[in-house]
Amino acid sequence: MRVAVFSTKPYDRDFLSTANEAAGHELTFLESRLLPQTARLAAGAEAVCAFVNDDLGAPTLTALADVGVRVVALRSAGFNHVDVAAARQLGLTVVRVPEYSPHAVAEHTVGLILALNRKIHRAYNRVREHNFALTGLLGFDLHGRTVGIVGTGKIGMCVARILTGFGCRVLAADPYPSDEARALGIEYVPLKELLAEAHVVTLHCPLTPDTHHLIDSERIAQMREGVMLINTSRGALVDTHAVIGGLKRGHIGYLGLDVYEEETDLFFEDLSDHVLGDDEFSRLNTFPNVLVTGHQAFFTEEALHNIAGTTVAQLTAIERAGPDAVTGPPRVC
Ligand code: NAI
Repeated sequence: MRVAVFSTKPYDRDFLSTANEAAGHELTFLESRLLPQTARLAAGAEAVCAFVNDDLGAPTLTALADVGVRVVALRSAGFNHVDVAAARQLGLTVVRVPEYSPHAVAEHTVGLILALNRKIHRAYNRVREHNFALTGLLGFDLHGRTVGIVGTGKIGMCVARILTGFGCRVLAADPYPSDEARALGIEYVPLKELLAEAHVVTLHCPLTPDTHHLIDSERIAQMREGVMLINTSRGALVDTHAVIGGLKRGHIGYLGLDVYEEETDLFFEDLSDHVLGDDEFSRLNTFPNVLVTGHQAFFTEEALHNIAGTTVAQLTAIERAGPDAVTGPPRVC
């Protein structure tokens, strides 16, 4: 199959090329993001391969269908950036990688919790300047603390397993409670109760119209004073403006983000010699108790290997047997 791969970075090229060795698809690697204006670059391809910050709204999908594209293969689990209804109407098949390494994201989440708690990001800078003072670096034992996990799917459950291993009390909120979680001793409670009790709140639910700005001023007010809030899921789960207010008041004691609601024009690019126009992002980075990583939670060798392998296998299956060869949402056709 001829495939136009958008938003290609060197690591995508390496992992996809290796996965494609036996399959022999014709992969064209494009550095451009997929947008309505760049969709025409896919002319001649039957499939496009896209990533999280590509624009897969109706105008882009229409432009892709117009140049003959029939398949959209997402190199991601999340598909909140796809207009699924438009894809269905246009007869496009959309496939994603539902699971590539929940461990990667869970381990990064726990990394953020540990770094924020023990101020490792600040200690690193201090020691390099020969400042060995400990004042300001005081942390707390995670053992015995209450952690609230919002969303106990694949990633949330990995986080739960790690944190129960640390000796944390784990509360969870999820409309679909899992028996495995209950067997681990995790207690499902309403979100309001979770927010009121947890020292650490970590978000692992998908971004949908229902979860947009799940964490807003009202929910922040329900949290413990000095709470640690972690979001490695999707930026728009959190109302950034409200969170900045919570940080300024000291109500939020720590904030760890791997995702940001306006990340599309920032993340995955080297902007080190640019002036950033995003005042809220810049404000976030002035707080000593905020740690932001640029959507790298998924970024492990295992995850990239699995993403590339699943993507290539899905393209091969569709080529051989049509869209019915692949299963699971958001396969639409
Ligand atoms: P999953 O589909 O296995 O689990 C999601 C869970 O959230 C489900 O149990 C679902 O019932 C629950 N949920 C849905 N609405 C909820 C609500 N309103 N409140 C509480 N729980 C709710 O998904 P998985 O694989 O665990 O991924 C979770 C999210 O992580 C993805 O949607 C994606 O946005 C994000 N992600 C981030 C990555 C990164 O690099 N930072 C990489 C991969 C995924």
